Amino acid sequence: MGLKLFNDLADLQIPEVEALLTLARRLQANPEPRALAGKVLALLFLSPSLRTLSSFQAAMIRLGGGSFVISPDMSIHGLETRSGIVMDGMAAEHLREAIPVISSYGDALGIRAFANRVNLANDLADTEFLAMRDLVKVPLINMESAIQHPCQSLADWKTLDDLKVPKKGGKFVLSWSWHPKALPLAVPSATLHMAAMRGMDVTVVRPDGFELPPAIMHKARHAATLSGGTVRETNDRAEAYEGAHVIYAKEWSSTKFYGDRAADQKLREPLQDWLVDEPTFATAQPSARFMHCLPVRRGVAVTDRVLDGPRSVVIHEAQNRMWGQMAVVYQMIGPGV
Ligand code: CP
Repeated sequence: MGLKLFNDLADLQIPEVEALLTLARRLQANPEPRALAGKVLALLFLSPSLRTLSSFQAAMIRLGGGSFVISPDMSIHGLETRSGIVMDGMAAEHLREAIPVISSYGDALGIRAFANRVNLANDLADTEFLAMRDLVKVPLINMESAIQHPCQSLADWKTLDDLKVPKKGGKFVLSWSWHPKALPLAVPSATLHMAAMRGMDVTVVRPDGFELPPAIMHKARHAATLSGGTVRETNDRAEAYEGAHVIYAKEWSSTKFYGDRAADQKLREPLQDWLVDEPTFATAQPSARFMHCLPVRRGVAVTDRVLDGPRSVVIHEAQNRMWGQMAVVYQMIGPGV
């Protein structure tokens, strides 16, 4: 039976992730340009994208299938996302109709909908995405929701494997970076889980007030217990970077003041030195890599010399989005499913 839902690496066993990565590598080495002939992937983007949008379309073309994209930026009717609302404003169509219609045209559906960042409990529970999932009858791909980004995590796992970054004993540092705005928790949460599940020794380094939620840390620690890895959190950058094989930079919201823009802004304003530069790697492994999911602001989260230098593998990660997602759609709607 094919894959029905790609939502969270934690839904899979480690051998199932390894099988997806083996398939991704097989499709990369040995193209199968007819594998998805006649198959359609519907893509609903309620939030912006460059990589996810283009890599899914490229993935479908490379496998002989097709895709179509719907987003509020197109000339579609205004979409209402809230439930229980009287639609007497600008929106002419509700997601409760739009999603079943769009998914009925595809063999599988991808949905992107970023966090509202109003209520942390709702975002941690992925309330909005799960409500949309209930409207879909075809296999569903989470293309980034409030708290998940499994496609990014699959690509990052493949990138670490491609670069032969050790699993056992490999030190992975997830490093908070400054950004002028509060950004979602999806990528840091998913990345932490991916590295823990891969069996690495993971350190989350962040300023006080930007701790990842206890539920996310607990889930990652459980994954590490099963994989042989470890997970810890600190605010001490000098100590965190020692011996690192990977420094993965990511910007995210204050969890202390989640949903409170003014308080978040006040807390983050003096933290502009939380950017990755070459001296950040002084005590890391000599061959330590720099990772980021992109998009990234140059000179804000990371300096040009790191991003343009030999440590940076950000383009490799982005390209692996396509190979990883080819494996996902192949397992969902490919031959034999
Ligand atoms: N990393 C990532 O998901 O990129 P996009 O937002 O451009 O899709």
